[in-house]
Formats: sequence, C-alpha cells, structure tokens
Amino acid sequence: MIQDRQEYKQRRTELMAQMESNSIALIAAAPARTRSNDTEYYYRQNSDFYYLTGFEEQNALLALIPGRKQGEVVLFCQEKDKLKELWTGVLMGPDAAREQFDLDDAYPSADIDDIVPGLIEGRERVYYSMGQDNRFDERVMDWVKVIRAKAKLGAHPPGEFLVLDHLLHELRLIKSKHEIELMQRAAEISAEGHRQAMAACEPGVYEYTLEAELNYAFTRGGSRSPAYCSIVAAGENSCILHYDRNDAEIKDGDLVLIDAGCEYKYYASDITRTFPANGKFNQQQKAIYELVLKAQYAAIEAVQPGAAWDAPHNASVRVITQGLIKLGLIKGTLNAAIKREAYRDFYMHKVGHWIGIDVHDVGDYKIDEEWRLLEPGMVTTIEPGIYISPDNKSVPKKWRGIGVRIEDDVLVMKKGNRVLTTGIPKTVDEIETFMAQAKKSRAA
Ligand code: GLY
Ligand code: MN
Ligand code: MN
Repeated sequence: MIQDRQEYKQRRTELMAQMESNSIALIAAAPARTRSNDTEYYYRQNSDFYYLTGFEEQNALLALIPGRKQGEVVLFCQEKDKLKELWTGVLMGPDAAREQFDLDDAYPSADIDDIVPGLIEGRERVYYSMGQDNRFDERVMDWVKVIRAKAKLGAHPPGEFLVLDHLLHELRLIKSKHEIELMQRAAEISAEGHRQAMAACEPGVYEYTLEAELNYAFTRGGSRSPAYCSIVAAGENSCILHYDRNDAEIKDGDLVLIDAGCEYKYYASDITRTFPANGKFNQQQKAIYELVLKAQYAAIEAVQPGAAWDAPHNASVRVITQGLIKLGLIKGTLNAAIKREAYRDFYMHKVGHWIGIDVHDVGDYKIDEEWRLLEPGMVTTIEPGIYISPDNKSVPKKWRGIGVRIEDDVLVMKKGNRVLTTGIPKTVDEIETFMAQAKKSRAA
C-alpha cells in the first residue's frame, strides 16, 4: 500500500510537471452505469482516475492545479454517511482520503459546484478528457459559465481547453515494476483459466461450459471481472473476430478458439489459444495452426526496444503470406502478394495493441505520422490469426470455417522482450499431449 501511495503521488507529480503553466486538470471518477431498471453494473473506476489516485469510489473528482499555493492536489469524494454505508458499503470520506491518498485537500462531492469554479478561476488553461462523457463536458461548461457571469467583477475565465489524454496516456504507456507485477499476476490467473477450459473441452459440451471454467478460475484467483467479453468460439464461430454469444454446442472435429483474460487489480491480460475439441488437429487445422504459430514466434521475436511498432506486424504478415502461398490459398510471389495485401482476406487485423489498465490500452501508435519505436516498459499483445470464412468460395471446401488466433502479452525489456502469458500449451504437441492427459483424468 505504501509503495502504491508513493507511485500514485509520483504519477500526479509527473503529470503536473508536463502541464502548461497556469493550468488546471480535472479528472472525473467513472459514473455508475445502469444495467436494467434500478440495478447497476459492477462499478469500475475510470482508468485515468485510478491511475492517478488508486481511489475506487464513484462520485469523485480530482483537480490538479500545479503551482497553487494552497494545495496542488484536491479530491472531491462522498462524505461518510451511515445510512448509505449500511446499504452499499464503507465510504472513505474526505478526511481519511486526504490522509491515506496523500492529497493536499479533500472536500465532499456535494461541494463540487461551489468550489470548482473558484479553482478554475484565474487559470488560463483547463485540461480534461473532452468529448468522453457528455454530462461531464456539460459540467465543465457550467463551471466556466459561473466564472463568466462574474467577469464584470473581475473574474477571469479560462481561454483554452485541452485534452488531457495525450500527456497522461504517454505516462500510462510505460509500465512500472509494480504495474508489471500486477500484469504478471493477471496473466497467471488467466493462464489457469485457459488450462482449465482446455482440460474440460470435449465434443458435446457447450461454449459456455468452457466460459464457466474461465470465470471460475478468474474469480478464484482474485479477479473481479474478465478484462473484456470472453470469446469461446467453436467451429465456424472462430471466424467471427469478436464472437461472444458463447452458446453453441462444441462438435467433434471443431477447433475451439478461446480469447479471454482476467482483470486483476485494474490490470488486464489478453490471451488466445485455439485447440481441437476432440484433442487431435486434422491435417488442415494443423497446417493453419502451425502457420499462425510460426507467425506469432516471428512477431514476438520482432518485439525489441528501438524497433518500430509495426515491425512485429510486418513480420507476421510475411510469414502468413508465405505460408498461405505454400498451401495454395494465395496466388503469386511473396512480395507481390504482400504488396496487394492478399493476406487481408485471411488476416484482417493488426498483430496487436497496447495493454495495461485497459485491455486496448492508451498511448499513441504513431508519432508525427510515423510508427513509434518500442521502449522498455511498454506491453503489447501479439496475436496473429488466420480466419478462412465458411463463405470463401475461392478456397477448396476442406479449408473453410477454420479460424485460428494465438495471442500473448509481451513486455518490451531493455534487451529483447518477456512474454508475460506463459504456462498454457501452445505447440501442436503440447496441446495434444495436454488434452490426451485431461481426457484420461476425466475417464479415471
Ligand atoms: N480480446 C480482444 C483482443 O484480443 O483485442
Ligand atoms: Mn484477445
Ligand atoms: Mn488482444
């Protein structure tokens, strides 16, 4: 906790050091979301707000005001309220929050509209995440209107509004040692889920049967939620990139694609494995699987400090195109096929994305129109895939409906990289051996 507290403070200090002079940043807690009628989704804090505070309660606002003599870091949060706490749990209250989160000041949320215009007044620039939440946009404008209304009395409304995202998200892009430990733990819990799901798979079970194994392992590991909607896709469903119905029966001869990762203490993991429902790849499935695996290894190898962000993608495109030509699924020479992007009929997404507090994490991919260079502390997924649509009449029938993706989370190191998501069978041999053993255990 002490380590966390230092780290949150350090992030706020770093962010403030980068803000323009005479400015204020306003970062709101996530609003509660209705699921249906009067029930809500599980509450999850806004990622930026959490990154800067570690504070998990709703109805809160953080103001960062570099250079303000009376205090640079001000939090608004819910007051202690015995009746409310009886229903929904303990609230920290401003006094304890000020103390525990190392803030300069903390006030009740009920006082936001009275106090915030005064904090903004006289500041030239306001940073906030413009355009993300209409209600918050309106609130900021309401505070500005309060200042404008007093202009004749000498009040000075701000002249510039800036998105906070760029400064803050550059910080979030480079993970600290502590963040990497949390991501490693998220990866381990998810790996256990994948192993359990793979071990429970046999023809005749439903996609949701395997989803239940994932959820059980995630929750038992201390995760409150998957980091995104789990994909358990059997047979042709594996060709639907964001399939999440997960309600089909798994048939003998199907491949099963599972793309699932837990969120652990606000950090995501994102893993995909594809395996045969009956424990044995057929010839076409094996050919496609081994090609995707080869592309994944090549892409992981290309994750190096100083390499351009698209180097892993290009490596995967090269391997996949070459392999598809060899299998007769793409025509032409390698370079010509890459140039005309022939692979896009089969591999239509990028090789990966940043991952961190958000599964599709923040941070620019390009700087001045150029792919940025990888730096130690960045974490990216590497997830090539080949999806042969069941409707693809340009390939022989035996290939249609095969969808394979293999995904791991890879940390850029000072030298080379480290795969965080280990311990799940990945080669054809490993998968077939693991599933044969699981089948034996089920029968015993
Ligand atoms: N699970 C979403 C993704 O792989 O990007
Ligand atoms: Mn994924
Ligand atoms: Mn992903």
